[in-house]
Amino acid sequence: MKIAVVSYSYTDNNDKLAACVAQALSVEHKKITTQKPMTMGKLILDMIFNRIPKVNPAPKALDSYDLVLFFAPVWMGHIASPLRPYLRTIKSSSKAYGFLSISGGADGGNPKLLAELLKRTGAKPSILLDQHIKDFIDQNTDPTRKDTSEHKISEAEASMLSTTAVKEINKLNIHV
Ligand SMILES: Cc1cc2nc3c(=O)[nH]c(=O)nc-3n(C[C@H](O)[C@H](O)[C@H](O)COP(=O)(O)O)c2cc1C
Repeated sequence: MKIAVVSYSYTDNNDKLAACVAQALSVEHKKITTQKPMTMGKLILDMIFNRIPKVNPAPKALDSYDLVLFFAPVWMGHIASPLRPYLRTIKSSSKAYGFLSISGGADGGNPKLLAELLKRTGAKPSILLDQHIKDFIDQNTDPTRKDTSEHKISEAEASMLSTTAVKEINKLNIHV
């Protein structure tokens, strides 16, 4: 089975995690970039108005893969907007896909992710794994959204998150 790891990051956490997972699975890692630089203002407008930014590589770059494992942050309870063009392509191709994220988790998880994936792709993900930065911050401090959003995961944290992700991916019983 031909697998691609495809990641988008605004502050590097998901790219870092995706790189670890791609290395562990020995599969190709493609990084998504937006054609116009992402800013906090654009990010918020994308989420409010459900905008779809233009991205590189073009979604058809995923045509030759059997399974695409997407990594991206969660913003305002939703999957980061740069993933939208790819999720739309999944819908038209019926390709197997997964969504994995290292998000903040300060607001008690992101309960709407599955519904959003179903809406955007028309199909259940093979894997959905939302891990949280909150778990890396001293639990006695009750981290706020600001604390989690400012946290950049270390190599050691990326490696721990990757081990959990790879365990879940291996449960799919896929052969790379
Ligand atoms: C504008 C904004 C909104 C966010 N909203 C959420 C949220 O709803 N839920 C959550 O768990 N994390 C949220 N986060 C935190 C990010 O998901 C987290 O910092 C993530 O690790 C960033 O990934 P990246 O470094 O790959 O961009 C938000 C961050 C930003 C900047």
